[in-house]
Amino acid sequence: MRSETTDRPGENTMRTVAIDGYGGRDRLAVTELPVPRPGNGEVLVRVAGAGVNPVDVKIREGQVRIGQGKFPLVLGWDVSGTVAEVGPGVPSFSPGDEVYGLTEGTGAYAEYAVAPAANLALKPRSIDPVHAAALPLVGLTAWQAIVEKLQVAEGETVLVIGASGGVGSFAVQLAADRGARAIGAASARNSDFLKELGAAETVDYRERDVAEAVRAAHPDGVDAMLDAHPAPDGGSGDETTLQAAGAVRSGGRIATLTAADETLGILRERGFEARRVAVRSNADALAELSGMVDEGSLSVPVAEVLPLEEAARAHELSEGGRVRGKLVLSVA
Ligand SMILES: NC(=O)c1ccc[n+]([C@@H]2O[C@H](COP(=O)([O-])OP(=O)(O)OC[C@H]3O[C@@H](n4cnc5c(N)ncnc54)[C@H](OP(=O)(O)O)[C@@H]3O)[C@@H](O)[C@H]2O)c1
Repeated sequence: MRSETTDRPGENTMRTVAIDGYGGRDRLAVTELPVPRPGNGEVLVRVAGAGVNPVDVKIREGQVRIGQGKFPLVLGWDVSGTVAEVGPGVPSFSPGDEVYGLTEGTGAYAEYAVAPAANLALKPRSIDPVHAAALPLVGLTAWQAIVEKLQVAEGETVLVIGASGGVGSFAVQLAADRGARAIGAASARNSDFLKELGAAETVDYRERDVAEAVRAAHPDGVDAMLDAHPAPDGGSGDETTLQAAGAVRSGGRIATLTAADETLGILRERGFEARRVAVRSNADALAELSGMVDEGSLSVPVAEVLPLEEAARAHELSEGGRVRGKLVLSVA
């Protein structure tokens, strides 16, 4: 079977940001590389935007190994843009479709990226393709935590730690959309932002012990907690998770993004249903998230859009751990 194409680049190379070895931000370099070809079941996307995630930093540093250690390695998990070419066996998309979703972990910091068709969905019509790149990885993570693992139900109370970050800002919205009372733990400067997203209450984790503050208002404890705070430099951040769990009622549900097995074990010994979320692609959930954005029940908070060439600056901001919502690279 031949692949179908309209918008293929005239030239055979493209502008990317790639690393030539694991390490610091100085490894990120604008690099001219061959345009990849879509294989079986894959799509070539003309990239408009690439979301920047903490995991991109971990891949750059070599803490998370994706890409089989081959260099140059183009970073970027979140992709949004226009289908330029479809590989064999892709009935779901045609050249010209505006899609968003996940690469296989790398490749989106580039003018063209290949992604499995099964990882993509049509992007929300109501936002531009650069902003759409902010949604896939954190939106899917929040979906898998709030809807699938915690199964948050109407009338429940849910505490979200790291509520103003990428995952947290979607988790608050999804919990509120399901009729739950969402409590967001974040810095005081983000309190109004969280209320706009639908949080019923906020707690300044920098000023107060979160468990104590939540228990003061909810003596029986909350039904569920998503711990979505980024691990601090050189630490796991699990102390934060264990402390915040004091806000959860006896037998309540806890989902974490980064906690170690040992920490999950401690939480289970304390009587909680504790689970870790490991995000996976899910085109149906992406389509659902697109629908929510278009009907106005989910907003996509973007802290900053930077040009592709400023990927190192984006990593610096992400590493600082204080980004409100998402960072996106614009690849136009
Ligand atoms: N397991 C998975 O599948 C999965 C998927 C996605 C992400 N993750 C991981 O989950 C973590 C969060 O990801 P993200 O993209 O949401 O990160 P992010 O957007 O970089 O998070 C930034 C936010 O974290 C908040 N924060 C920092 N330290 C905090 C603390 N001690 N307590 C509460 N909030 C704190 C900050 O809030 P303030 O500025 O308000 O203080 C800031 O808004 C990262 O480590 C990421 O690698 C895992």
